[in-house]
Amino acid sequence: KKPAGAPDKSLARPVTKVGVVGAGLMAGQLALLFARRLEVPVVLTDLDQDRLDQGVAYVHGEIDKLHGKGRINSDKASQLKALVSGSLSKDAFADADFVIEAVFEKMSIKKQVFAEVEAVVSPEAVLATNTSSLSVTEMAADLKHPERVVGFHFFNPVAVMPLLEIVRAQHTDDATLATAFATAKTLKKTSVLVKDAPAFVVNRLLTLFMGTVLGAIEEGTDPEVADRAVAPLGLPMNPLLLTQLVGPAVALHVAETLHESFPERFHVSEQLRAVVDAGHTELLNSDLTLKDEVRKLFSGGDS
Ligand code: 3HC
Repeated sequence: KKPAGAPDKSLARPVTKVGVVGAGLMAGQLALLFARRLEVPVVLTDLDQDRLDQGVAYVHGEIDKLHGKGRINSDKASQLKALVSGSLSKDAFADADFVIEAVFEKMSIKKQVFAEVEAVVSPEAVLATNTSSLSVTEMAADLKHPERVVGFHFFNPVAVMPLLEIVRAQHTDDATLATAFATAKTLKKTSVLVKDAPAFVVNRLLTLFMGTVLGAIEEGTDPEVADRAVAPLGLPMNPLLLTQLVGPAVALHVAETLHESFPERFHVSEQLRAVVDAGHTELLNSDLTLKDEVRKLFSGGDS
């Protein structure tokens, strides 16, 4: 069945090579998904060789895990590894027809990335962004061809979460959108078309869950009690673990974006900000209790 709002699929253009900007966790997960499902070459880029090497090594490691679980045979594993490569230069994207960025969530950086990519790809290549909350329209505003920009918002862990939010920006044309939907189908994701509005749909909901539990902790409720209180709702993950999975910095950024747009509805946790400023990427111990250092930040000091 055609997803609501999807243009006629005859407008979709073929995708024969994919570029992924960034070599962080999300980018690596995306590279694997694209290589596995589209079976086309996927090139990752990043600013420094170490990060790039780590990104490619992560993808190769995940391919080994799939092989180890018997999900793919050894020929397939070798074939997938050969499809995924890294390059420091965006020139490697010259013949890519679908480029997705998963770099740091800052508008100026994303705009610069798109400008650099546009300088090397063909005018019809799709430029997709995995942004969690930024305006896709604004990201495309300074490009020569803003009509080829689309939001392609995945959820972590990418290999497991079925949903993909496809964001139509102000100038996105039907061919780009049709290509996005066709690609999503080949990726075996369930795509929904959402408006280009702050944090789209799903992150608004998740931010409320995460923010509400963080707020209760700030007010003095025991962290584990506040987190577990949500368990009867049947969520696959309690909000603190979800905050850790998403990454405290990303969760904070989404909350800040939503707070700017809807100050009455979204609260930014000062304690989460303190956790991010202190450089913590993990909130919980292996027994899913709050780490001592994080607990101190929530209780406002060293007590
Ligand atoms: N990468 C790849 N695969 C992973 C993974 C990861 N990081 N984490 C889990 N998996 C796989 C496991 O390997 C396992 O696969 P298998 O069946 O082939 O062995 C499968 O997922 C299930 O894992 P587990 O049995 O270990 O654990 P669970 O059954 O508890 O599932 C979960 C783990 C899928 C992560 C589940 O807890 C879940 O759905 N959590 C909620 C995740 C969520 O809400 N994500 C959205 C975050 S918001 C976001 O990303 C948007 C951004 O913009 C902020």
